[in-house]
Amino acid sequence: MKILGIETSCDETSAAIVESNKSSLNLLSNIVASSVELHAKTGGIIPENAAREQLRYIIPVVKEALEKLNQKKGRPDINAIAITVGPGLMGSLVVGVETARALSYIWKIPLIPVSHLCGHIYANYIGRNSDDIPFPAISLVVSGGHTDLVVIKKHKDIKWIGGTRDDAAGEALDKIGRLIDLPYPAGPTIEKLALGGDPKRFDLPRPMIGSPDFDFSFSGLKTAVIREVNLIGELDKQTKKDLCASVQKTIIDVLIRKTLKAARKYEVKSILLGGGVSANQSLCDELELEIGSAKAAEEIKLFVPTKSLCTDNGAMIAAAAFFQKEESWKNIKASPSLHF
Ligand code: KG4
Ligand code: ZN
Repeated sequence: MKILGIETSCDETSAAIVESNKSSLNLLSNIVASSVELHAKTGGIIPENAAREQLRYIIPVVKEALEKLNQKKGRPDINAIAITVGPGLMGSLVVGVETARALSYIWKIPLIPVSHLCGHIYANYIGRNSDDIPFPAISLVVSGGHTDLVVIKKHKDIKWIGGTRDDAAGEALDKIGRLIDLPYPAGPTIEKLALGGDPKRFDLPRPMIGSPDFDFSFSGLKTAVIREVNLIGELDKQTKKDLCASVQKTIIDVLIRKTLKAARKYEVKSILLGGGVSANQSLCDELELEIGSAKAAEEIKLFVPTKSLCTDNGAMIAAAAFFQKEESWKNIKASPSLHF
């Protein structure tokens, strides 16, 4: 079975084909067109600009993804189309949803609506045998728009247990990056600069790290960085690196503490990371280390998607669709505030 996945919830336009083979999911193609250069100019995403670019990209991107099927003409050899219906920017979602509805109608192929957040979780199933991920599991979806913890008892049984009360972790990185003149999105640059920095130089607040719930708060971190930057004035190269290392360490500490707390409470067998920030190698390494050293969490396995599948892509949407129900194109619509 082959599924074409389409993702346009934020600034990326992506289409991919994922094939199921016994109990594993294989990636046949994954095309991602990004308008990041455009957003770098404005220091962030302007929704109208994102949707306008996606309208230009969507057909070429779908065509290129389908080229891997080596079919000259006729209806493509796919069994379903998976489409991100939310959460995300309304204009961006509509571009993908309306394209998918039209293709479903023309090709007479069922449509599978997918939550973008589930997509991030199911990126972990690509290139892996699905039986290798034991339940129950905790998933931390950590991206530019979300920082959410969910408990997964089995497929389709996903319960949200906590999330950010203000900025998402990636959003905090991007805002802090903007403050110290790093290009958008700042997460990957902060990771690079942090390699040469001292994470202990700046003692930044870790709000809610000890709170009894599974919620997060990152907006205070940005305020603390503004204060430090104002005190220092001009940042030299090393100070910038130290600041990046300190910010990254602060965010990682909070993410790990809450994720492990949830893992222990729900006695899970797996932890699944997902979302753009899970591309951060220090986050993955430190979490792996903590899992190893926490006696109570001895049996927990950590799963992280392949780096290129951490950030937004169509493949994760196709992967999630293998575990969900199809619908008629008539019933599908964009839902900007959808959750899991
Ligand atoms: O999942 P994603 O592509 O889009 C959303 O769904 O929001 O995540 C994008 C976010 C951005 O905030 C970006 O700065 C962050 O992921 N990011 C990273 C890294 N790569 C991307 N953050 C930290 N380290 C990285 N290597
Ligand atoms: Zn995302």
